[in-house]
Amino acid sequence: MKGIILAGGSGTRLSPSTDSINKHLLPVYDKPMIYYPLSVLMLGGIKEILIISTPEDTPRFEKLLGDGSELGITLKYREQVQPRGIPEALTISEEFIGKDKVTLILADNIFYGQGFTTLLRNAIKNHTYATIFGYRVKDPRRFGVVEFDHRQKVISLEEKPDNPQSDFAVTGLYIYDHRAVQIAKKLKPSDRGELEITDLNKEYLKWNHLDVELLGRGFAWMDAGTQESLFETAEFVKTTQQRQGFKIACLEEIAFYLGYNTREELYEKGKSMEKNDYGQYLMEIADRKHTDQYWDAIDHHPMMGLVKNE
Ligand code: G1P
Repeated sequence: MKGIILAGGSGTRLSPSTDSINKHLLPVYDKPMIYYPLSVLMLGGIKEILIISTPEDTPRFEKLLGDGSELGITLKYREQVQPRGIPEALTISEEFIGKDKVTLILADNIFYGQGFTTLLRNAIKNHTYATIFGYRVKDPRRFGVVEFDHRQKVISLEEKPDNPQSDFAVTGLYIYDHRAVQIAKKLKPSDRGELEITDLNKEYLKWNHLDVELLGRGFAWMDAGTQESLFETAEFVKTTQQRQGFKIACLEEIAFYLGYNTREELYEKGKSMEKNDYGQYLMEIADRKHTDQYWDAIDHHPMMGLVKNE
């Protein structure tokens, strides 16, 4: 399974904050936005990840995250010259995907909730053709909308409909087989001038090859694409973290719990930033002698093949 993070786009909805920097590098409370989708792919057990951004911003992501070796993963980078829509991430990644399956995540999508790792790992394990993730929202007209029957069989998909057929938004997390690349190549731009991921999903639906996983009310899903939602998301992260003393989407912590880096490496990383809260947190995690009781911070499930780093 390969992973793709699409961190392109012009970010006009967040202008002027994004006039000189990519939206996905803006902080969501105490870390850059891209940490959140990257943490999702890591928790899903994906180790080969391609980050796609604009020609100006790709080097900035590379400066931030490097080749991934510090996190025990492989990160590669590709440019999207024009923001021509989400499916283009798949055509850009053709060589990277090869004959593999791929999980695509939009870099402004933030997922949080007990059981998420298990749900995602199961979805990846049981995946056949295409899987989308549905989440109930108050205003589905802002999103792709999925309608399904009582057996959770998808009936229809619509992109930002005026009259939504359900309250379930399609989140920016998708799992595909390698055919997605060829389907993406054949898509035509929509009225808003972009290739639509909903059109790609509709092709899978035509063949009855589209599954939907539902994220229940215990989950938080946010897309930090507007001033309002960016602020709300940051508040959510701050409140949750301060209450529990755990950080959400702390990549080094996740790498440690997954067994990708050592306690010493975690400590050293923390020490290199010891003057700030993030660095102190890494040192604190590395110092904890009994990680068992903290393991549920990343939703440990012994059956999921997660290796504990002790
Ligand atoms: C895109 C997709 C939409 C999906 C949303 C999730 O919307 O087109 O189907 O529900 O991401 O964040 P956009 O961000 O392009 O408005």
